[in-house]
Formats: sequence, structure tokens, C-alpha cells
Amino acid sequence: MNTYIRSVGAFVPEKRVTNNDLSQIMDTSDEWIKSHTGIENRHVAEKGVTAADLAVKAAKIALERGGLSAEDLDMIILTTATPDYIGFPATACVVQDKLGAKNAGAFDLVAGCTGFIYAIDNAKNMILAGTAKNVLVVGSEVLTQVSNMQDRDTAVLFGDGAGAVIISESTNEESSIEHAILKSDGSGAEVLMRKVGGIKYPFVDGETTFNDTALYMDGQAVYKFAVKVNTNLIKELLERSNLAIDDISYIIPHQANIRILQAAAKRLKIPIEKFYFNLMEYANTSSASIPIALNEVYEKGLLKRGDNILFTGFGAGLTYGGTIVKW
Ligand code: UT7
Repeated sequence: MNTYIRSVGAFVPEKRVTNNDLSQIMDTSDEWIKSHTGIENRHVAEKGVTAADLAVKAAKIALERGGLSAEDLDMIILTTATPDYIGFPATACVVQDKLGAKNAGAFDLVAGCTGFIYAIDNAKNMILAGTAKNVLVVGSEVLTQVSNMQDRDTAVLFGDGAGAVIISESTNEESSIEHAILKSDGSGAEVLMRKVGGIKYPFVDGETTFNDTALYMDGQAVYKFAVKVNTNLIKELLERSNLAIDDISYIIPHQANIRILQAAAKRLKIPIEKFYFNLMEYANTSSASIPIALNEVYEKGLLKRGDNILFTGFGAGLTYGGTIVKW
């Protein structure tokens, strides 16, 4: 038995903030952001709009395209770094309720920006084990709501959005989800985090400020890690699958920084055109970035059933991983 990506959907908020808009409120410039990251714009959810709200919109599109109703779902796996609640309940449960997916289990999976890759592998394995037939995997983020606007090192990098796929049992040989590589290096736990608000660094009444709870990143440490793992992942995935780069229609990477991908392309001697980017428009949407990009590739009609797509990601944890999917 195989599993496959039955359908995809995405939703990004309409409000668009340009680099020049940011340069009006902090010490930055369009030139710096573009030349250091490739980012030109990001989309921003209105205050009070949550990860669950965006996830439901993306999920409804994926369900409709997959010819399924919410009641056909057996499981919802939601990945986010910006959950509706701290710790519990899972944002996936909020989505389950809003969709009316009354037959589905629901849980959140925390693997930073690699979350989508971890989640599709979990979905695949649940189907192969007979636990579920149709699994909704959704990455959804409202990162602009946890950005420290006094920190130009991070505030310019992130955007909001959600991307969803339905994973189902495959009845044909053409489409499948191949094995994944899922890895971590927890020694880098504190190079990318929201520090205060958990048990280790608790919220202190009267002392903790919003910025203590906001996203923090040691950009250079993550950059070096990302170049190394991205390069190794692509190499290892191709080797393990016995595929050459020419057999891959698209590499759809986590959309963090165009320079990270250019460095991987150069090291591997892969033409940069193999990589699909849309970070110029949406910036880094963490665990939503890969399914948002996949949705764009789908909507542009660039995929046909049987095409090989290679996904890679890295992020908080630190985590990294990749997989090859036959569309
Ligand atoms: O989703 C997973 C996690 N995220 C990532 O993948 C991000 C990984 N890291 C990166 O993409 C890059 O490290 C950054 C884009 C975050 C930073 O780029 P960089 O080329 O490593 O810049 P830098 O940190 O070395 O900073 C260079 C200079 C510094 O000024 P000085 O000390 O040389 O005077 C920074 O203060 O650029 C300055 N700078 C800025 N200037 C204008 C940092 N942020 C900005 C900014 N606008 N927004």
C-alpha cells in the first residue's frame, strides 16, 4: 500500500507589508533585507486572527480539492510555532471543531519550521498502520504576532499564512510519499526560540514584557546550520532514493533565506532553477512555508501526477528533515 498527497490548499492574509513599510518603523532598508535574504514582502494577519483561523481556511480548500468533507477526516496534525494557546489545548483541536471534523483525532506537532515534513511522515505512517485513512496536515503561523519590532535582526524575516494537504491511501503506483529523513540537534535549542512563558523561563508577574516572550534568533548560528543540513539532506535523499537531480521536478525547500538555498545549490552543483521560491512575497512562514509553496506550484499548473518533488526543511529545535513525494 502507498500513501499520497491527495490535495493541497493555502491561505495567506491579504494585508501586505513591504520592506519599505518596515523601513518607516525601524532602522532597516529594502536594500538590506533583499540583499541579505531575498525577501521583499510579507503578509500579515490582523491582530486577534489566530493560527487556527488561517488553518481552517487552508484546510477547507484542500478538502474541497480532494473531494472530501470534514467528516471524512480521521486525523488532523497541525504544526505551528504560534499556537492559539500556550501548551494546551492543541490548536489542532480548535481546527477540528471549526471544521466540524467530528470523526477526527487531532494533535499539534512541534518541530519548528521542519514541522510540515515531520507531519506528512507521521500521516503516512498512520495510514500504513491502519490508524487513519484520510489525514489533514496543516502548517499555520501568525509569526508577526510574536515578532519583537525593536529587533531588526528578526522582525523583517517573518510572515503569516497557512498551507494544508490531505494525505490518503494511494490506489495507484504513480503517486506516493517516500521515506523521510527526520533529524534533530537539541544542543541548538536556544538559538531559535520564544524564551519566556514556559516552565523553564516562567512569566513573572509585573516583570515579563511582551518582547521577553517574542521570537528570538541567533541568525548566524541558524544560517550555518541550515546551509550544512540542506546540502546534506538533498544529497542523502537522492542517494537513498536512487534518483538523480534530473529526476526531480522541483525542490520545494523551507522558505527562510534565498542565500541558504543558493549556497546549497552551489555546493551540490544543482541549477538554482530546480528550487521553487516564493519567500520574496511571503517571507519566512515557518512550518507553513513548504505547503504554501507547494500550493503555488499546484495552482500554476506546474505539477503532473507522478512528478518527483523533494522537500527539505530546518528550524527550531533545532530540527531538520526532508522527503521525496511522487505527486
Ligand atoms: O526558519 C528558520 C530560521 N531562520 C533562518 O533561516 C535565518 C537564518 N539566518 C539568516 O538568514 C541570516 O543570518 C540573517 C538574514 C538573519 C542575517 O544575515 P547576515 O548576513 O548573517 O547578517 P548579520 O547578522 O551578520 O548582520 C550584518 C549586519 C549587522 O550590522 P553590523 O554589526 O555589521 O554593523 C546587523 O546589525 O547587518 C545588520 N542588520 C541589519 N541591518 C539592516 C541585521 N538586521 C538588519 C536589518 N536591516 N533588518
